[in-house]
Amino acid sequence: MSVHIGAEKGSIAETVLMPGDPLRARFIAEKFLENTECYNEVRGMYGYTGLYKGKAVSVQGSGMGQASLSIYTNELICDYGVKNLIRVGSCGSYHEHVKVRDLVIAMSASTDSAMNRERFNGNFYAPTADYHLFKTMTAQADEMGMTYHAGNILATDTFYHDDPEHWKKWADFGVLAVEMESAALYTLAAKHGARALTICTVSDNLATGEFTSSEERETSFTEMMKLALETAFK
Ligand code: ADE
Repeated sequence: MSVHIGAEKGSIAETVLMPGDPLRARFIAEKFLENTECYNEVRGMYGYTGLYKGKAVSVQGSGMGQASLSIYTNELICDYGVKNLIRVGSCGSYHEHVKVRDLVIAMSASTDSAMNRERFNGNFYAPTADYHLFKTMTAQADEMGMTYHAGNILATDTFYHDDPEHWKKWADFGVLAVEMESAALYTLAAKHGARALTICTVSDNLATGEFTSSEERETSFTEMMKLALETAFK
């Protein structure tokens, strides 16, 4: 057991998919994996290990935001020896051409969080995806005939901003979309010598005001999961 994960050593696979929502972790385990075992129920943050095409993979809810994700990422890597972490999430688009239901693969993650400012004594670290995972996922998407956007995203600490225009500065500088986890994920993976990558489906668009229904979210989520699982074993 680690502080927040009630799993036996050895019961979590080297590759872990991380949705924010623990019920998504359960959905992935039930829909895509065989011989599935639930290894964690602490705080309802479900974690499962199962087989995908005969190979072991785990799925662990991260919770929302960088504080929660950091706890699970630290423990997965440091206490359970996890080597590859693929976040499978949702994001809000900052551009008209990045449409709802589209896929965004995050090459890098800017942030408004103070975590790295504190960690690097006021200097600015550039949280970056693992190149091997990134290259593998984009090649796999091409092979599967799936289109995607690749670039910089924002990992924000604030879902509800006071200023409704706050996002426009990030958009002007080429940030594709916003979510709440990836800067911490990339930073911690780099620190501990693990690989990390985020893929998101666009659930809402700040530029157009469009958003997806829960049914649409489930369909696009399923497509993203197929891509993430195929990437995990390339
Ligand atoms: N995740 C999905 N949409 C989001 C948004 N608009 N802001 C932050 N995180 C998100």
